[in-house]
Formats: sequence, structure tokens, C-alpha cells
Amino acid sequence: MFTLKGSPILVALFGTSLDDKYYIICIYMGIKEVESMQGYIDIHSHILPGVDDGARDMNQTRHMLQLAYQEGIRFMIATPHYEIGCSNMEITKLREVFEQVSLEAHKINKDFQIALGNELFFSMGIIEALQRGEALTIAGTRYILVEFEPNVSYRKIQESLHHCVLEGYIPILAHVERYFCLVEQPNYVEKLIGEGAYIQMNLSSIRGGITNTKANFCKKLLRQELVHFMGTDSHDTAARAPHAKETVDYLVKKYGEASVQQLLWDNPMRMLENKHL
Ligand SMILES: [Fe+2]
Repeated sequence: MFTLKGSPILVALFGTSLDDKYYIICIYMGIKEVESMQGYIDIHSHILPGVDDGARDMNQTRHMLQLAYQEGIRFMIATPHYEIGCSNMEITKLREVFEQVSLEAHKINKDFQIALGNELFFSMGIIEALQRGEALTIAGTRYILVEFEPNVSYRKIQESLHHCVLEGYIPILAHVERYFCLVEQPNYVEKLIGEGAYIQMNLSSIRGGITNTKANFCKKLLRQELVHFMGTDSHDTAARAPHAKETVDYLVKKYGEASVQQLLWDNPMRMLENKHL
């Protein structure tokens, strides 16, 4: 974390973490933008090795973690896919893999943290799987990350997320930009929020020119403050790597630092505290 502890000069003299030294160097060099930066919390990633279509082995996981850390991510929620009827990893084994990945993150920096959840493909029986503890909420909170098929109807999303709320969960709609019905009718997003859902967007989806429908949809939602969380939805170290910085810089320029702070730190922190936003 780029936080200031006491006098920068004294801290520099007596030595502290690399991050604090970086902060001090930045102050010395007059790089003001670092002053309020805390790093980012990525609430959607597929970094666990050999669990889903994400990292294929621990070596790739290690590279993804290193890249994420370089990009400014300081907390990652591992959200492997969970789908009824598919070969989901047994929960005890999943936790073992997660512990190994946590150790790898700590080797990069002791403050680099990982938490465990699932990206739940919504279907009949998903709530029961959560209740049995076979599927996971995010970091043991009431928050759940929920996804659908891209061609799902609005009615299906609405009814499903409403069902989650009635069962006591706080649903976060994963990668909102993926659903055709919402891209065609952005006002539906506001309705979902009104019924108790939160909205997650992939960082990589925002970039694109004026002819890019998906990017335009993303920018519209951001302008209207209809996005609560952002994530890398990273799966590998190539096309779906955990990049953040370039998009974050763009977001800061476009929507201001306070909005970015809220999307990538404050809201995820509230979530991890199991509080409503
Ligand atoms: Fe995902």
C-alpha cells in the first residue's frame, strides 16, 4: 500500500517496506498522483491453477500474480467458475489450492492478499449449492458473483437476481457488458440495481473507439454511475491477463480519481466487510 507512515524522511532513514520507499521517492520527485493511491482490489479473476479455464498450472498462476502486482493490484478475489452439472472442484481441494496460491502471493509481497469465492453460473439449484457450502460466496460474505449466458433474456436475469436477494444474498452481476439484452437496453441496468443487484464490469471492456458498441455501453454506465465493481476477469498471461493500470489511468482522466478509488478500493472493501455499499 502506498500509505504514509509518519515523517517520510524519518521512515526513509530507518528503513521500511519497498512500497513505502517508493512512496517517499515519488514525493521527492514530485509525482503527486501516487499520494492517494492505495492500489486496486480485483474482485473477479481465474488465478487458481487447474481449477477452471483460468491458470493452467502454478507457474502460470505465479506469472499472473506477478503481473497483477506490477499493475497495482494489491488484493485479488479468486473466483473460479461454478456451474451445476459440471465437474466443479471439491471444496476441500479448492481451499488447498487457494492456500498454495496465497503463499505465492505473499512471496511477491507480504501485503498482497488473495480471497476465495466463485463465479456462479445461475441455474436451478445454485442457491441450494451455496447453502450446502458446495459453492462459495465472496470471501465468506453475503456477496455472490453471478453470471449468465450472453444471450440471456432480461426477464431471466431480473428473476434470478431477485431470487438471490430473497434468499439473503447480495448478487453482483458479473461482466455486465456481456449480456446483449442489457447492451441493447441500458436502462435495464438501473432497474436491476433498484431491485438489489450490484454491477461488475471488466476493465478490458472499456477501451475502444466510438464504433465499439461494448465500450460505448461501458462508458455510458460509468457516466451514469451504474457500476459498483471492476475486475480483470483474468484467465492467463496473454489475451486475458490481469492488466489494470492503463485502463485505470484512462478512468482517472475521464471520471476522476474519487470515482476510481470508489470502484477499485472503497466498494470492494465494503463488500469484504460484508456491508452494503
Ligand atoms: Fe469470469
